Amino acid sequence: MTTHKTRIAVFCSGGGSNFKSIYHAIAEKPLNAEIVLCLSNRSECGAMEFARENGIATVHLTEKQFNSFDEFAAAMVKRLKDAQIDIVLLAGYMRKVPDAVVKAFPDKMLNIHPALLPKFGGEGMYGLYVHTAVLDAGESESGATVHFVNEEYDKGKILLQRTVPVLAGDTPESLAARVLECEHRLYPEAVEKLLTIQKS
Ligand code: GRF
Repeated sequence: MTTHKTRIAVFCSGGGSNFKSIYHAIAEKPLNAEIVLCLSNRSECGAMEFARENGIATVHLTEKQFNSFDEFAAAMVKRLKDAQIDIVLLAGYMRKVPDAVVKAFPDKMLNIHPALLPKFGGEGMYGLYVHTAVLDAGESESGATVHFVNEEYDKGKILLQRTVPVLAGDTPESLAARVLECEHRLYPEAVEKLLTIQKS
């Protein structure tokens, strides 16, 4: 008997190091899942390149390609449904996901954020802005959070979270590097947890 492999789409805008870590984790484990689609607002970025090199379908989708935001959102839902996607993973996707897409994947869309939500989240809190804010606040620890995506930035239910220390002399860059390393372990674990939840 063959069991259905969970079909995953990743949304990326940049280097895609989290995408790569999930891809390798699935290959090593192996989990009953596969990444079948990489969607990006940038046709050329590390993530899209990695997808092409590994035979993963790519979709380049931006608002500019459509007459309205609603058409853009509908096209995104259609591409995901056509590819029979079960789960969507946001991994450095620098755009807000349209509400219509969020609604089409209830409890089936995750995001990773490079801080301990609910602190240091929300619109404008991305990249080095996050780590600068953590250092400015004098926090003794930071970390990474994987959460479900809802219609509000960084507000969905938390699935998994892990801390890293803030060290004396940290710069936003050194803290970012420590958190990113943590993300690379945390996101694959969160995906495994989601797959387990969905089975039960
Ligand atoms: C990560 O820090 C993630 O938390 C944030 O965007 C960054 C993406 O990095 N959402 P990468 O493209 O996975 O290397």
